[in-house]
Amino acid sequence: MTETAVKSSNASNLTGYRSFELGSFKFTRDEYFVCIEWPSKNGPMTHYMSADVFLRALMREVAWVFFYYQINFDTVFGTNNLYGKVEMFAGSFNEAYKEAGINLTETFDTQIILDTFKEMLDDWTNEGFDPFAAPEETGTAWLGKKNGHNREAINRVRQVCKRMVSLPGDTPQRTDANGYPVNRAFLDVPQDEPEVHVEPGYENEIAAFNLFAYLSRSDVTWNPSVTSVVGSSLYCPTSEEYMLPVKHGNDRVEWFIQISDEIKWEVEDLETGRPRAKVIMKAGDVASMPADIRHQGFSSKRSMLLVWENVNPDIVEMHRSGKLKPYPIDF
Ligand code: PHB
Ligand code: FE
Repeated sequence: MTETAVKSSNASNLTGYRSFELGSFKFTRDEYFVCIEWPSKNGPMTHYMSADVFLRALMREVAWVFFYYQINFDTVFGTNNLYGKVEMFAGSFNEAYKEAGINLTETFDTQIILDTFKEMLDDWTNEGFDPFAAPEETGTAWLGKKNGHNREAINRVRQVCKRMVSLPGDTPQRTDANGYPVNRAFLDVPQDEPEVHVEPGYENEIAAFNLFAYLSRSDVTWNPSVTSVVGSSLYCPTSEEYMLPVKHGNDRVEWFIQISDEIKWEVEDLETGRPRAKVIMKAGDVASMPADIRHQGFSSKRSMLLVWENVNPDIVEMHRSGKLKPYPIDF
């Protein structure tokens, strides 16, 4: 579908929020809920989500520019990143909706769906609500009639290094002075940094930093930053509290290394959402998430997770064609 301008209504007299349209999908929000509407053979379908849940997922869509393949806001609504185009769907990866024939998928240029999601996020995020923060740290400002904005929170730039955090000219370490105090949950994490003595001539190549200290100072949850890049291999550590606001559906294998505390994962079939596995990861545990699943994590205490991504673009086709198995190792 070729659309270039965001379609939205004036602010509602009742709630103050604007409504949005993209293709055949309509989005409205009120004091508590977001409603997604789409046409089906049985007439218009409606799907309701709590506005905080919707906004936390929408924030990741915008910040990650649709991520690796599939983002499910819940069991019904989501997107597939086709890298240049994005499919938006309702019910298309839900067995019951599909069987009933009431699902819809439409494809858009990335720019128009990104612009629509950005405007929706901007209009529907009230002052004081930070969709990246743990619920305890941001409270209930998301609910009620429209009340201001929180542009500082929603326009944060994801921290992405070129080679490695702390190398000359690259992403700096986090400190009190540059606006990253130690989080309340990580006050016990040692903050000492490694001593590095570099042979003259190698100052641009050699560095080391305390990753635990770096993560203890993260101001966001469920938002991997990139701390090292080696070819297609990206280390994307993140601090996690409450739940991953999306169910992520893979088009490649990704690896998780639990580096502190504990996360419980629910793993479901990518196409149908049928349950596949429950994984409990404790500090030191390593797991790979296969290429044919979706997954969502739950972290009762703020924890540290290393997400290891392979950004080789050819790998998607290698999985799709069956050249690669959906899992990385045969034991
Ligand atoms: C994931 O989808 O694998 C994922 C995303 C964000 C996180 C952790 C894991 O913070
Ligand atoms: Fe994932």
